[in-house]
Amino acid sequence: MQEYDQHNLTQAVIARLADTPNVRTREIMTSLVRHLHDFAREVRLTEAEWEQGIRFLTATGHKCDDKRQEFILLSDVLGLSMLTVAMNHEKPEGCTESTVFGPFHVEDAPHYEHGADLANGAKGEPCVVHGRVTGADGRPIADAVVETWQADADGRYDVQYEGLEVAQGRGVLTSGDDGRFHFRTVVAQAYPIPDDGPVGELLRATGRHPWRPAHLHFMIKAPGYETLVTHVFRRGDRYLDSDAVFGVRKSLIGDWVRQPDSTYRLDFDFVLNPAR
Ligand code: BEZ
Ligand code: FE
Repeated sequence: MQEYDQHNLTQAVIARLADTPNVRTREIMTSLVRHLHDFAREVRLTEAEWEQGIRFLTATGHKCDDKRQEFILLSDVLGLSMLTVAMNHEKPEGCTESTVFGPFHVEDAPHYEHGADLANGAKGEPCVVHGRVTGADGRPIADAVVETWQADADGRYDVQYEGLEVAQGRGVLTSGDDGRFHFRTVVAQAYPIPDDGPVGELLRATGRHPWRPAHLHFMIKAPGYETLVTHVFRRGDRYLDSDAVFGVRKSLIGDWVRQPDSTYRLDFDFVLNPAR
């Protein structure tokens, strides 16, 4: 009979995975067990700490419902979401970089004509956003579906207001023949990620703040191109260097330029990567 101790247990668990029919599942599970055991050995995990970890993960699950996904938030603050995005969307030079999707996207956002006011009553300083969608060769991409969403002046998305029935600060436009689109909205502000759950506790326990720098989300789809999920971050924001979810990339920082009439204007071009 085989006995297990701290020296042979890892190999025994890995051997038990040998008959996993799906090759990729076997690869992932084998690596997971190896790293998990190495982690426990490296920190010399105590039983009390193991129990605390189980309690934390249980609370994380309990915090999830159809509106709140605390496990994704956990992945976000541990940098796993951004690592996965970065590994899977390495772009050729000149293409717009991707960043995290985030939890505030809504299916079936309203469609708008160019020049429309997507704020639709959201609080904030007025601004106009002008964008252009092109391929890496600089040619405009017409009829690209451009979806955008953002927080208001109080750093909140429409979906965070209990009882608000209309979409505010979000919408879908279609690029013109020249690849261009523009819309009115309000200037997005920095905001804290939801920190009233286990992930917030983790941030506090590790001396971290929950803030994301001000940004405007975009998802751009066009046939023959990789779907682009990205943000434009606001230059000068105090949290650009310490985004709680590690989503900032230098190439995604844009200028909200104050106009003579005290409104703001952002110009940003999006370069799509051909589909693989
Ligand atoms: C967001 O940008 O909407 C977001 C991303 C990750 C976690 C929380 C919010
Ligand atoms: Fe966001």
